[in-house]
Amino acid sequence: MTTLPATIDRAACERLDAGDPLRAFRDRFLCDDDLVYLDGNSLGRIPRETPRRLATLLGDEWGRGLVRSWTSAGWMESPLRCGDAIAEIIGAGPGEVLVTDSTSVDLFKLAAAVMDARPRRRVLLTEHENFPTDRYIAGGVTELLGAGRMLRSVPRQEISAAIDDDTALLLLTHVDFRTGERFDMRALTDAAHAKGALVLWDLSHSTGAINVDLHAAGADLATGCGYKYLNGGPGAPAYLFVNTPLQSELRNPIRGWLGHESPFTYEPEYRGATGIRQWMSGSPPIIAIASLRVAVDIAREAGMQQLEDKAAQLTELFIRLSDERLAEHGFELATPRDASRRGAQVSLRHPSGYPVVRALIERSVVGDFRDPDICRFGLAPLYTRFVDVWDGVDRLDAVMRSGDFRREEFQSRVPIT
Ligand SMILES: Cc1ncc(COP(=O)(O)O)c(C=O)c1O
Repeated sequence: MTTLPATIDRAACERLDAGDPLRAFRDRFLCDDDLVYLDGNSLGRIPRETPRRLATLLGDEWGRGLVRSWTSAGWMESPLRCGDAIAEIIGAGPGEVLVTDSTSVDLFKLAAAVMDARPRRRVLLTEHENFPTDRYIAGGVTELLGAGRMLRSVPRQEISAAIDDDTALLLLTHVDFRTGERFDMRALTDAAHAKGALVLWDLSHSTGAINVDLHAAGADLATGCGYKYLNGGPGAPAYLFVNTPLQSELRNPIRGWLGHESPFTYEPEYRGATGIRQWMSGSPPIIAIASLRVAVDIAREAGMQQLEDKAAQLTELFIRLSDERLAEHGFELATPRDASRRGAQVSLRHPSGYPVVRALIERSVVGDFRDPDICRFGLAPLYTRFVDVWDGVDRLDAVMRSGDFRREEFQSRVPIT
């Protein structure tokens, strides 16, 4: 990994791009605009190959093959095959990952399965750092099973010490969606296992951005979004990971026909399939899976260590420039300075964060805002250039110097992303 030069200007950023081993990957995405897109942590860019793949699927496989394509075009196996492809970039094995449903639904399936299988009765989360859907789903699961007291939330720094003999499941967002801070997956998994608890990771802001290694961490369960750094498209399906030993212990609570051992014999009683297939419920979204698969293959080709290295450099550059040019405008860094403790995101706190982000979007730099005061910039390593970081910070500096963000039109709240 190359280190950043001592003095940085736009020309230095161009040189960093020229020497970037991943630079060709940007051409694999539709980037024909002048937009400085720093929101790949919300919705990734579209790969150029995706429309072509979908045209084939729609025209040939659906158009001509019709129902025969469930077998002839391999549609029925596509959630498993796409899962195996994702397994390669999150350090899981074949048959351990399935593409299915949304992250929210997968969280429900996995959390409910654990609570059903384990005699202990508590889900442990952080007070503020879990993505809200983690909390809502955990709350729903525990309520369904009997009592709100089964949910326990503690401050982030107390999470390890809070795991006790009553903890069935630790549910964590691996990379904090607000600050970009990363949990130590190995250490927390060890701490949970030492108390006999399981851990469920929400990898939505991790996969495709950093080098997740589930096996190396001894991870139990995980799920995450397909539409952020994985570039699968709006509403792309999620993936879920169940490690091989747990597959014979845990049961999918949403027992749909396609998770049955033999769906096409239409038996009246449910018999769960063996392996990861039992986590299927209903018919898979074939078009969306095809779109996701194109994008996952690009990440596989790039290699996750290379992507993590580039994300570390991009975020390092953003932080350097922000120290040099933005601190004077009252921005405070919310993201850890140590690259191993952050994802591919830089977040800056500012009391006028919301209108600042609106004014920045007006200058063709797309980031987003999260309450109460966080300006978020996702630096997706597959297609973000070092000059994008330069231009993004440069225009943010200009927004502050011009006072543009004080304009009336930027004050009222409309959803930004
Ligand atoms: C960390 C995290 N988890 C879950 C979700 C939501 O996932 P889904 O829409 O697939 O349910 C998001 C969406 O932004 C997220 O950031």
